[in-house]
Parts: sequence; C-alpha cells; structure tokens
Amino acid sequence: TTPLNVAAKAAGKKYFGSATDNHELTDSTYVEILSDSNMFGQITPGNSLKWDATEPSRGNFTFTQGDQIVNLAKANGQLLRGHNCVWHNQLPSWVTSGNFSADTLSSIITTHCGTVVGRYQGQICFWDVVNEPLNDDGTLRSDVFYDTLGEEYISIALRAAKAADPDAKLYINDYGIEGTGPKSTGMVNLVKSLKAASVPIDGIGMQAHLIVGQVPSTLGDNIKQFTALGVEVAITELDLRMTLPATDADLAQQKEDYQRVISTCNAISGCIGVTIWDYTDKYSWVPATFSGQGAALPWDENFNKKPAYDGIVAGFAS
Ligand code: G3I
Repeated sequence: TTPLNVAAKAAGKKYFGSATDNHELTDSTYVEILSDSNMFGQITPGNSLKWDATEPSRGNFTFTQGDQIVNLAKANGQLLRGHNCVWHNQLPSWVTSGNFSADTLSSIITTHCGTVVGRYQGQICFWDVVNEPLNDDGTLRSDVFYDTLGEEYISIALRAAKAADPDAKLYINDYGIEGTGPKSTGMVNLVKSLKAASVPIDGIGMQAHLIVGQVPSTLGDNIKQFTALGVEVAITELDLRMTLPATDADLAQQKEDYQRVISTCNAISGCIGVTIWDYTDKYSWVPATFSGQGAALPWDENFNKKPAYDGIVAGFAS
C-alpha cells in the first residue's frame, strides 16, 4: 500500500504528518515507523514546545526536549509544526498566578514567543502561535491572557512570532471548528479583525479530534469559508475515537470517516496538509481523557495498520 506522505504529495498537498512525544522515542518499533519520511512528511511535538516545557520559570528557557524532536525530524527530512506559543493549558504557575500588569504580561508573551520561535528560526515552518482561544459560542476564552490584555494578546503573540521567524507560517489552532457554527464563525471574525489590523496571520489550524460516525457534514463548506479569508488551512490533530471495544463495524466506519476528512481537504487547494495526533493507538491521548473510548488512530497498539489506513490513502486518491 502507498505510504501516507507519498499519497499526500501525489495529491498536491504539502505533507501528511504525525504528532509525537519524547517518552515514545525509546520505543524502537515506534521510531522506525515515525522516521519514515515517505509515511510522515511532517512531525509535531505533542508536548515539548509548550510553555511549561520551554519556560518553566520566568526567563529560563529549556529546549532539551524540543531539540530532541526537532533534530529527529531534521535528520529524517521531515517538516515541523511548532505547538504552541500561547495556550491557556500547560502553563507554568508563574504565568497563571503572577498577577502581572498588562504591560508586564505583554512583555512576557513577547519574550516567550520570540524566544521559542526564534530558537527554531528557519527550522519550524508552521507554528500554532495561539492555541484554543475560542469558547464554544465563538467568544474569546477567559484565561490569564485574555483577562489581562483582552483580544490584544493574540496580536502580541503573532507579532512576536513574526519578528522571530518572518518565514514561518503563523497559525491560530482550535478544536470544535470543523463544521460551521458559532465557534467557526468566531474564528472567521477573529481572523478578519486581525487582517484588518494588519496583524500577521497565515493559517487556521483545525484540530479535528472527531468521533467515529460524526464527521460534520459542513466540513468542506467550513474549510472554504476559512480559505476565503485569504489564509491557509491545515488539519492539525486529526483522530477519530470510538467506544471500546472496537468492532469490525466501528473500524469500517472509521475507515470511511478518515477517507471523508482526507478527501474533503484534498478537494480544497487551500487545505495544505493533514497531521494525525500520533499514529498508533499505543500512544493516543484519548483513553486517558475519555474513559472507555479510544482506537482513534490508523495503527493499532501493536503497530498493525487498521482499515483507517486505506481510508486515508483512498481519500488522497479521490
Ligand atoms: O510528563 C509527565 C510525567 O512526568 C508524569 O509521570 C505523567 C503522569 O501522568 O504525566 C506526564 O505529563 C503528561 C503529558 O501529557 C506528557 O505525557 C500530562 O499528565 C498530560 O496531561 C499531558 O497530556 C497532553 C495534553 O495535551 C495536555 O493538555 C497530551 O499528551 C497531549 O497529546 C495533549 O495535546 C492536546 C493539544 O496540545 C491541544 N489540542 C488537544 C490535544 C489533546 O488533548
């Protein structure tokens, strides 16, 4: 069967990729598959570039974990997606509990994004600069950044990232924006307002943590309303979970759903690539978060390809 990045490139996409995490890299079977650039043309570090990992105390930056994944991807000839500069989650307590003034927090964001993006200037070509800024109703999420700075925190982060790596594609990334609806409308309005203010913004990342049998019917229309804003779209964290144990019928439906997501992206030129949120069920985030659910990825826990794999290939061929 066709390797997935080969299938994506043949379809005119920039890559098919996978997230990974440092503790998985001691698993040699895992690394062998991950390292095949015909299979995965792009890698996203799942945790090691987040704020708690990179700036655990103010002004003290650590890149050991980030470097490990960046160096692996570079050695394998794979593109990188940086994840992420500013997010309400996985923040060190010095950020959340610092009671900083607006001016101070602004400079903290500028230093953080500038340093992390700058560290990998020319090496990480896509960045989730702002992660999960929206509530389900499309308004901006209340967190330390919004509560202190209002909407301005988003442009502060994007401008700092731009200054640190002018050639990187800068994204806002969120979940629950796969179909049309209030949250997607909130994303449209946010990107419009950033563009109107000449804030650098190149892309919208659609996480796509989906449920088998529930791919939104408006996925294609929604991607098109995003690309119509003059930004690119990437599917950044795709997985399709189900209630365990997985039956043959579930796996067949999952294959169809992967195919549908991929073929929908495939048909829209501004949808530039797809990343799955790790590739094997052995290392999926799902079971730890949604009790009784899992089997969300195209490889099972024993590194056997599931029907979903052929769904992805068929999606790129359509
Ligand atoms: O590093 C510690 C380790 O020292 C400790 O022994 C272990 C015990 O639980 O925890 C380890 O940290 C965990 C970390 O992943 C690394 O494995 C955290 O508890 C765990 O909460 C953390 O989960 C990550 C999650 O983000 C946190 O929000 C997942 O791996 C990661 O896949 C997930 O990724 C997010 C994206 O960033 C944003 N979109 C949603 C996506 C899925 O939740």
